[in-house]
Amino acid sequence: MSSAYRWNQAEFAVGYDVAGVYIHPHYRAMQAAILELLPLESNADVLLVDAGGGSGRLAELFLEKFPESRAIVVDQSEPFLALANQRLSPFGGRGTTLLARLQDQWLSRLEEPPAAIVSMSAIHHLSPEEKQNLYACMGSALAPGGVLLNGDEIRNATDDEYLAHLKNWSAHMQAMQNSGNIPGEMQEILDYWREKNIAHFGAPKKSGDDCHETIAVQLDYLRAAGFNTVDAPWQREMWAILRGVKK
Ligand SMILES: C[S@@+](CC[C@H](N)C(=O)[O-])C[C@H]1O[C@@H](n2cnc3c(N)ncnc32)[C@H](O)[C@@H]1O
Repeated sequence: MSSAYRWNQAEFAVGYDVAGVYIHPHYRAMQAAILELLPLESNADVLLVDAGGGSGRLAELFLEKFPESRAIVVDQSEPFLALANQRLSPFGGRGTTLLARLQDQWLSRLEEPPAAIVSMSAIHHLSPEEKQNLYACMGSALAPGGVLLNGDEIRNATDDEYLAHLKNWSAHMQAMQNSGNIPGEMQEILDYWREKNIAHFGAPKKSGDDCHETIAVQLDYLRAAGFNTVDAPWQREMWAILRGVKK
């Protein structure tokens, strides 16, 4: 089972939808920070894209907070998008989904330039080259003044610190699993994650793996992609929000 395809199985999509808030130690804090960082008035009438938006939890919060705006959840997983469609149905045409790999040309399929592109816990699955291409496409597709906010897993500059954070997270996830908050089938995902990231720490990564990169490297990618203001306004352990603002 590759780490990309794990998310294409219905039981894991349902499992993550329930368990994300327990697996990710800062799930709600990161969602709140992303929404807070959007430079939008409450009556904004704009399009937001959630790249790798999974079951639509962040898009749902966005649509509640900005009742004149629209959101599209883009994801490569049909089971995740089935959950997103269900979750966003109360918003009618304001909340929609798009089945696509982030590596493909989905940005040209949008009907209007988005004012914001957000993402959570998804882009780290792309290889360095794929991230650079994606950031460049996002930079081109955004409306003038638009913002990219990528809340994602990052690696620390030193191996020691990075491995310590991976081990802390592994212990957190196992504690959550043992507490019964996480559906049993997620144990398989956790074991696989631990094998790839800790048992084989330092092994070469390929697209679909957890291709963690530092904040500094990714801010360079954003600069190269044409974003003129780039920074990381939020960070906790191995999670950060990377921000790029288009001129
Ligand atoms: C850990 S889940 C996070 C889902 C959601 N963003 C959240 O925070 O609840 C990762 C998501 O990224 C999606 N994903 C991973 N690689 C992708 C790719 N290459 N293209 C599109 N979606 C991808 C998965 O299908 C899954 O929905």
